Amino acid sequence: MRRARLPALSSPSDHKPGFLREQSRVLGRQVSARVVGNPLVARLITRYFHRLYYGMRARTWLDTHWLGTPLLKCPLDLWIYQELLHEIRPHLIVETGTRYGGSAAYLASLCDLLDHGRVISIDIDEAEGRPQHPRIRYLHGSSTAPECIDAVKQEVSEGDRVLVILDSDHRRDHVLAELRAYADLVSPGSYLVVEDTNVNGHPVDPFFGPGPFEAMRDFLAEDARFEVDRAREKFYLTFNPSGYLRRVG
Ligand SMILES: C[S@@+](CC[C@H](N)C(=O)[O-])C[C@H]1O[C@@H](n2cnc3c(N)ncnc32)[C@H](O)[C@@H]1O
Repeated sequence: MRRARLPALSSPSDHKPGFLREQSRVLGRQVSARVVGNPLVARLITRYFHRLYYGMRARTWLDTHWLGTPLLKCPLDLWIYQELLHEIRPHLIVETGTRYGGSAAYLASLCDLLDHGRVISIDIDEAEGRPQHPRIRYLHGSSTAPECIDAVKQEVSEGDRVLVILDSDHRRDHVLAELRAYADLVSPGSYLVVEDTNVNGHPVDPFFGPGPFEAMRDFLAEDARFEVDRAREKFYLTFNPSGYLRRVG
């Protein structure tokens, strides 16, 4: 990293009122830029901020809404979704795990802005009051039930670009079954997003047990068509570390 220089003191006339205060401010900015620019320090800050943000759930991710409907995501990941949708312009977005419908509504709003795309959102539970939107179809059932998978496949036409988001039951075996069931649907260049890879100590919720992260690892060991796209973790905090899987093959 190039070092920024402090302006040299050329003469006693530089010692004007406020000069030292300004100098210490400049020095403070340089020191903190250097400290947080260190990859190890950046990793530590990210990890502790992640724990703070995730741990204070009642004021953070349990109190996040899209146009009034709760959604259980980190806003920095929502911005990544916005960028993905703009880049890929999927014809169909498949979401497993609807809960209140906030994430489906968010994705549908982006489709409205792009004037392109539809959302199919699957949940094992039916809930009243989910947002109704012409671009959303809610499917009731388990995401790994053959009839659900078939219903989703019937929504896909030849040449469609498809993006899949897995956000239902977060236990490893279920997520791995979803990965295997939906991977073929993802079009080359598009993404299979494994949500909440952060649990089971990556770096939060250390006692969760094997979850999405472990499923992602097992899946990548058996399917070479996908690779982790770390660039989607550029905002440091993401609930989906190593969870943005890009189809490359
Ligand atoms: C984390 S929430 C979804 C959050 C939502 N995507 C959001 O961001 O606001 C998980 C949802 O998955 C559903 N779920 C659990 N097991 C499921 C399964 N086997 N198939 C489909 N949905 C399931 C739950 O009923 C719950 O509503």
